[in-house]
Amino acid sequence: MPDGKPRTVSPRPMLITTDPPRHKALRQLISKGFTPKHISAMEPDVRAIVRSVLDSAKPGIELEYAEGIVAKIPVRIIADLLGAPAEDWEQFRAWSDASVGSADPDVKLSSQEAFGALTAYFRQLIDLREQNRTNDLISILMDAEVEGESLSHDELMSFLHLLLVAGNETTRNLIALGTVALINHPEQLRMLVHDPSLIPTAIEEMLRYVSPVTHMTRWATEDVDLRGKTIKKGQAVVLLYGAANRDEEVFGDTAEQFDITRRPNPHLAFGTGEHACLGLSLARLEARVFFEEFLARFDRVELTGEVLRMRSTMVPGVRTMHVRLGSANEGAAVR
Ligand code: HEM
Repeated sequence: MPDGKPRTVSPRPMLITTDPPRHKALRQLISKGFTPKHISAMEPDVRAIVRSVLDSAKPGIELEYAEGIVAKIPVRIIADLLGAPAEDWEQFRAWSDASVGSADPDVKLSSQEAFGALTAYFRQLIDLREQNRTNDLISILMDAEVEGESLSHDELMSFLHLLLVAGNETTRNLIALGTVALINHPEQLRMLVHDPSLIPTAIEEMLRYVSPVTHMTRWATEDVDLRGKTIKKGQAVVLLYGAANRDEEVFGDTAEQFDITRRPNPHLAFGTGEHACLGLSLARLEARVFFEEFLARFDRVELTGEVLRMRSTMVPGVRTMHVRLGSANEGAAVR
């Protein structure tokens, strides 16, 4: 902490847990940073980040893929979006990983300490923006008003923490488990290597098949009749996205299969309704650019050990997965 004082910021995200009309007003504030135009303008930066991370991966050598490659990407992109300078990204990532890792007993760093350090870091970024506004998300939020009032310090902090939590683990889970799906379905990997124009539909299928966020709990605000059952006002409803995404009534008898050409693909990986994922265009962009760059360099990928998962029920990502990458340029053929 810069001033040595503990801060009383609630880790509870507020956008995702508010109801209309306040939810709508809060969402409108931040939507400016997530319009399709704004997100496509980020593509060159996203590509530069992906390339710089992939530069460390060499064919033929065993490497740790989940932490060593994939985890480095979404957090840098969010740091960039928030306006954190590139030299701080690794530190930012260490705090971010530890602050959200509390659900997993294997994460050793104290999540409280990491959360505090991150809060102090955000405070510094805000102080810098006090003197000099830019077009980053922090500046947008600092100038924003809801119902005629600026966001309080705590609300601003909650927003920043939410973006970090919502956009980081989720996207890396998609990319890491999407890669595992390709490894387990070599004919699909081969098809994708030969026809990279399939990458966007392959990503939709990864979203469906992996379901990076497994569930969300919501509370009914009124009685609802659903398929012969009544959900009473005030009752909790657990939305199991993974189950919905394998629903045979929607996806037919191929629901359990991984098919990168699946169309239409009405999956619910990003949720639906009022709270549907705000960052979905960014997540899609990151995954597309990642696989474009990755498959242009490596046309073979094989597991050399077990895939160890995070012990989290909500975003059970990959803790470690060792792989060996192959490249046709290095004489390695696609399987
Ligand atoms: C593969 C990656 C991602 C997946 C699977 C995912 C999934 C989800 C889901 C299931 C929800 C809740 C929907 C609901 O309650 O109905 C959500 C909400 C949200 N996501 Fe994502 N997300 C991803 C990436 C991102 C990224 C990159 C960002 C931004 C940096 C982001 C920001 C948000 C925000 C702000 C909300 C709350 C929206 C609201 O309450 O109005 N997400 N996401």
